Amino acid sequence: MDLDTALDAATAILSDFDHLVRVVLSGRRRNMETPALRIDIRPIQLKSGRFLQVMSNDGVRTTTKNFAPQDPDVLAFLASGYANILAESTEESISIRITKKGEALVTATKGVKAQNLSHDRSKARLLDPSDPFLIEVGISDQDGKIKPSRQDKFMQVEEFLRLLVPAFNNAISAGQIQQPTFDDPLRIVDLGCGHAYLTFAAHQYLRAQGIPVHVVGIDIREESRKRNSDIAEALGISETIEFRAEEIAATKNTKVDIAIALHACDTATDDALAWAVINEATLILSAPCCHHDIQAQLSESPEPWNLVTRHGLLKERLGDILTDALRVHILKILGYRAETIEFVGGQHTPRNLMIRAVKTNAKPELGEIELYQNMVSSWKVHPALANRLASKMAEIGVK
Ligand SMILES: C[S@@+](CC[C@H](N)C(=O)[O-])C[C@H]1O[C@@H](n2cnc3c(N)ncnc32)[C@H](O)[C@@H]1O
Repeated sequence: MDLDTALDAATAILSDFDHLVRVVLSGRRRNMETPALRIDIRPIQLKSGRFLQVMSNDGVRTTTKNFAPQDPDVLAFLASGYANILAESTEESISIRITKKGEALVTATKGVKAQNLSHDRSKARLLDPSDPFLIEVGISDQDGKIKPSRQDKFMQVEEFLRLLVPAFNNAISAGQIQQPTFDDPLRIVDLGCGHAYLTFAAHQYLRAQGIPVHVVGIDIREESRKRNSDIAEALGISETIEFRAEEIAATKNTKVDIAIALHACDTATDDALAWAVINEATLILSAPCCHHDIQAQLSESPEPWNLVTRHGLLKERLGDILTDALRVHILKILGYRAETIEFVGGQHTPRNLMIRAVKTNAKPELGEIELYQNMVSSWKVHPALANRLASKMAEIGVK
């Protein structure tokens, strides 16, 4: 479909107040300026009449303005430089992506959607399943519905964000993180980002909240870097999100305020935590994945723990618990306030524990180093995280 025909189809949906569900404009076309970072338009019914509610996010804040239906100023937004246009009516949806060459890639789908004219719809969800980024990363289908096979990942990402945002706000209020600006944005590094569901979600969500942000996704796999970078390009956000194919431990010259890691495999979680500590991340949120490190070292257990470790399954679970308990304790004695929390319901993943840590620079409390030393010597284990942070541990007297 040529661009004019595609824009006419979107205009037809936006002009038909009785059937309009919403229009979302995002991303920037090459060499074009847009009036705002993202615009959401939807029909609303107020006492004074029917309006088109236009919510514009300029990267700092969202402003809302109501216009008369079919106001030419609103219709003009469709051709105002956006690369992604989603127009939904009660009967059909049309998704337009305008390429660098100015061609329109159009997906049109039929289907019944409900119109909601209330002006203050409460948002149970942080992420809109039809947000173009969720379609691009493959969590949602072309109709903007979460794919059944991706429901769990969607929930994990959304719940992870639900914890990230207040942790960030608290750190700002406590003066631990400076208020981000466009010149000095909030810096987030996602370690072991894989298909970057969380990486994109953090970027898009925080930007939609008006928080200037720069996000880096690290994964050892080149194909992940390529795929994720192509998606960032398609979404028109490659200036503020970047992907690198490298080992976490080899990642250099990267400023960080918040380090995140979702299910970085086995000791990649230790790589992520160690990297965050060495690079002085203020906040660390990490949901570990499989644990083999301590499990593999549990050859002898201090008595009477043989009562547990003689059972393979229990030994495995105990290994997981010891690994995470030691990780949290290491963070604690190295100047973080650290804890474990459940970040998502167990039905969405058995790996639903999160280590949350905030840098306080507090010295270890009396007895905490001895507690650590007793623990590792009685279990005869050497946590991978302690090995990676050997020089920091030595500074506080732990060999
Ligand atoms: C289980 S996946 C999780 C991906 C993503 N965070 C998510 O939740 O969908 C773990 C990812 O970590 C990456 N990874 C494992 N070890 C790594 C290392 N040492 N450095 C960088 N990436 C690593 C893998 O390539 C993989 O993509």
